[in-house]
Amino acid sequence: MSSVAHTLTVKLGRRSYPILIGHGVLGESGLIGHHLPARDVLIVTNTTVAPLYLEALEGALRPRRTVATLLPDGESYKTLDTVARILDVLVANRFGRDCAVVALGGGVVGDMAGFAASVYQRGVAFVQVPTTLLAQVDSAVGGKTGVNHPGGKNLIGAFHQPTAVLADTATLASLPPRELRAGLAEVIKYGLIRDAAFFDWLESQAGALLAGDQDALAHVILRSCQIKAGIVGRDELEHGERALLNFGHTFGHAIESATGYGSWLHGEAVAAGMVMAARMSCESGLIDAAALARITTLIERVGLPTRLAGVSAQTMLQGMRMDKKVLDGHIRLVLLRAVGDAFVTADYDSRHLQRTLEAHLC
Ligand code: NAD
Ligand code: GLY
Repeated sequence: MSSVAHTLTVKLGRRSYPILIGHGVLGESGLIGHHLPARDVLIVTNTTVAPLYLEALEGALRPRRTVATLLPDGESYKTLDTVARILDVLVANRFGRDCAVVALGGGVVGDMAGFAASVYQRGVAFVQVPTTLLAQVDSAVGGKTGVNHPGGKNLIGAFHQPTAVLADTATLASLPPRELRAGLAEVIKYGLIRDAAFFDWLESQAGALLAGDQDALAHVILRSCQIKAGIVGRDELEHGERALLNFGHTFGHAIESATGYGSWLHGEAVAAGMVMAARMSCESGLIDAAALARITTLIERVGLPTRLAGVSAQTMLQGMRMDKKVLDGHIRLVLLRAVGDAFVTADYDSRHLQRTLEAHLC
């Protein structure tokens, strides 16, 4: 019997691809190969994930020629230097244009493997095998790849869609609780930007999710991927709607940049950023204090941060000015009209932004 519990499609014409979700999909013989028309495969993973899942993935890829490269673990290694290491391995093994790159790991591995695949010989095939909740609900889907620059988060990158995404829910059993919580930040994001009923469901199921309930986790992966696949299918290159997926990220990326990419997990920074974006929506008269309290409460219940110490409002604003949504020098923000209804705007009072930042910095 197949391990695939759910299949959905990111609809992009000839570049459409499936997202396969299920317990054990990573090691199911023949499954990944079916979506990988390549003889030579480079598996990009890291020193933490490889001992857990590399052997099973290599087994599923037989009889292809596989080479694995193990990167050091951590957001601080999400750099051009590390991508150069991946490219060196591809060249050293004389991989041709018909090879494929498979990313086995969280968002850091996926973003770098995808970027390497996008530039190697001007683009080779790429499959995502995400092993964190955050990567399964967000980073593995949609084709954004890239690395950080000391001047800003994800400043260097490319759009390069995978040919398939295999989200194995069994891998979440080994995920540290802090990483699970960080993934839930991006899940809450989908409820806030698009689906009020999903946000209600998350409020009622937060305990089950934190306890690692497999059915509850499978549901959040499916619903999150449905929402993201729909948005990416309509606006692949972020000319409009896709920017909603950056709810909380303008603040969050500034937190990551100000704290040096390491002490805060990406999901933690997004969580605090979403509360800041919700407060800004409240300051701007778009949502009421009860909605702000509801959002803050769910994020706190999940064990995610809502405040930031040791960083000034000025430093935050400097980081926010490096955001990719900045247009004509104006920071554009994703704000809420209600839970489940987000929009992008540059039309806000900068005093409200200052007040918002001051309320969350200590
Ligand atoms: P991560 O990749 O650093 O993984 C978190 C930690 O968990 C790492 O230590 C990793 O080695 C470990 N790990 C991974 N799978 C594991 C498993 N199954 N069991 C035990 N340990 C495991 O972090 P992340 O939260 O997955 O991804 C964050 C990155 O994703 C950030 O760089 C962020 O910018 C990026 N991102 C990209 C997009 C996109 O659209 N491309 C979207 C959201 C986030
Ligand atoms: N994580 C934001 C996006 O994929 O657009």
